[in-house]
Amino acid sequence: MSTENEPRLRTSGYLSWVEEIWYGLSHPLYDVMAWWSFLPLGGETACRQEFARWFRLVPGQRVASLCCGSGSTEQAVLSVAPSVEITGIDLGAGQIARARRKDPEGRIDFRVGDASSTGLERASFDRVLITLALHEMPRDARLAVVCEARRLCKPDGLVIAIEHGRPVGLVSRLLRGFWWFAWVPGNPEIATTRDLQNRGLANEMREVGLDVVDRHTTRLGWVEGIVARPGAE
Ligand SMILES: C[S@@+](CC[C@H](N)C(=O)[O-])C[C@H]1O[C@@H](n2cnc3c(N)ncnc32)[C@H](O)[C@@H]1O
Repeated sequence: MSTENEPRLRTSGYLSWVEEIWYGLSHPLYDVMAWWSFLPLGGETACRQEFARWFRLVPGQRVASLCCGSGSTEQAVLSVAPSVEITGIDLGAGQIARARRKDPEGRIDFRVGDASSTGLERASFDRVLITLALHEMPRDARLAVVCEARRLCKPDGLVIAIEHGRPVGLVSRLLRGFWWFAWVPGNPEIATTRDLQNRGLANEMREVGLDVVDRHTTRLGWVEGIVARPGAE
C-alpha cells in the first residue's frame, strides 16, 4: 500500500525529531498552539464540544481516544457526556503527562502507547475517536491506526476520525495555510497532510472496512469529522 517516495517513520513512531521532542516533553506550548489554531473556528472549547456532539455519545458508553494528545478533546467529551468512560492513548509521554495534569481527579485513563497496536480488547468500545492526528502520519501508519480503531469498536459502535478538511475557495485555503503554520520551513506535516487530503479521509476509512455513515464540517470547512460503523468482517 505504501509508495517508495512516502515519508518514513523513525523508530520512535514519529516522522521527525521535531515531533519527538515536541510531543515527548510536557509543555504548555502545544495547548497554546491548539488555542491559536481554533480561533478562526470559534474558539477551541466551542469547537471541541462541537466534535463531542459529532460522537453521538450515550451515558455509560466506553470511549477510546487514539492519539489523544494533551487531553483537550477528552475534557470536552466529559463536559457534554459526564458519565462516559474514556481511555486515551498517545505516543508522546509529554502529551500524556499534560493530559493527566488537566484531569486531577483521574476520571480519564490516559496511557502512553502506540495507537496502531494498543493491546486493548477487540470490540470493547462504543466509540473510537481519532482527533487531528492522522495527517501527521504516512499512509501505512494512518491505515494501521484506523484498522486498530475498527478492531476496538463494538459492531454497533462508531469510529469517528477528525481531520483537516478541504476549505472551499482560494482565500480560505491560503488563510488556513498561514494560520496553521504551513509556511514553517521543514514542517514535517505538509507532505502527509497533502497525501491524506488527496486520497480522502472517508476513502481511507472505507479501505479498512469501515462504512461511512455521516460527515460533519466546522465553520470555514477547515476541519471535517467522518463518522463510520465497523462493516462486516
Ligand atoms: C496534532 S496532535 C493531536 C492531539 C489531540 N488529538 C488533539 O486533538 O489535540 C497529534 C498527536 O498524535 C500523537 N501520535 C502520533 N502518532 C501516534 C501513534 N502512532 N500512536 C499514538 N499517538 C500518536 C502525537 O503524539 C500527538 O499527540
